Amino acid sequence: MGSLFEASPTFSIESERLQISYFFPDSTEHCLFLMKLWNTEEFMKTCGRTSITTAEKASNFLRHRVHADYARNNYGMFLVSLKPHAHASLAESTPIGTVSLMRGEPPNAYLVPDIGYAFLPEETGKGYATEAALALLAYAKRELGVDSVFGFCGKDDTHSARVLEKIGLEFRGQRKLKVFGGKECAVWALPKMSQDLTVYGLDD
Ligand SMILES: CC(C)(COP(=O)(O)OP(=O)(O)OC[C@H]1O[C@@H](n2cnc3c(N)ncnc32)[C@H](O)[C@@H]1OP(=O)(O)O)[C@@H](O)C(=O)NCCC(=O)NCCS
Repeated sequence: MGSLFEASPTFSIESERLQISYFFPDSTEHCLFLMKLWNTEEFMKTCGRTSITTAEKASNFLRHRVHADYARNNYGMFLVSLKPHAHASLAESTPIGTVSLMRGEPPNAYLVPDIGYAFLPEETGKGYATEAALALLAYAKRELGVDSVFGFCGKDDTHSARVLEKIGLEFRGQRKLKVFGGKECAVWALPKMSQDLTVYGLDD
């Protein structure tokens, strides 16, 4: 079934300091930014080495993977930009990170999305991941009816875990997740979600 969803270049979710918007494969700025972000040492340490090493590869990824997510779910990986002042337009703001709600590609998908984030090393420790994730969760609940959300992170990744805690998720133990190739991950969930996470399709 085709989707009628079309990402708007002027759409943004506003928070106090940030703007959250769609990525576009034809934007050189977006492609170069994604390439830079995913090739920082900090990113590779927690998320692994990426195959996105050129602007062209970033563009293909945005076109075929990220926009497929937008079309399938109405959410996916968003660009986070820092506003120079409270009433700045998207064009005036500077890309500093990503925030995402992802559900994977069927059949490798759970029934509810997980929240994720990544920021340039020089912009971390300023509360931006927390601010962006809270704004995206509120938008997804209000506009898309998404009220069950997971958070996954490496079992020793204390910074990510701290963000998940600060945005109100609860630690639900460690599990080997098929979506991460059977790697042991820390699993977090919104407090009102069932204690039996298999009802959301999570691995036994
Ligand atoms: C994890 C990450 C997104 C955190 O972003 P951030 O904007 O720094 O997050 P916040 O500032 O909202 O909160 C991070 C928490 O970790 C702490 N923290 C962040 N960076 C830190 C550092 N270098 N040293 C010590 N503590 C740090 C902060 O103090 C804060 O906790 P606090 O409020 O108790 O002080 C960022 O470090 C990053 O992009 N890392 C690489 C990609 C990644 O790991 N993504 C997650 C994969 S699941």
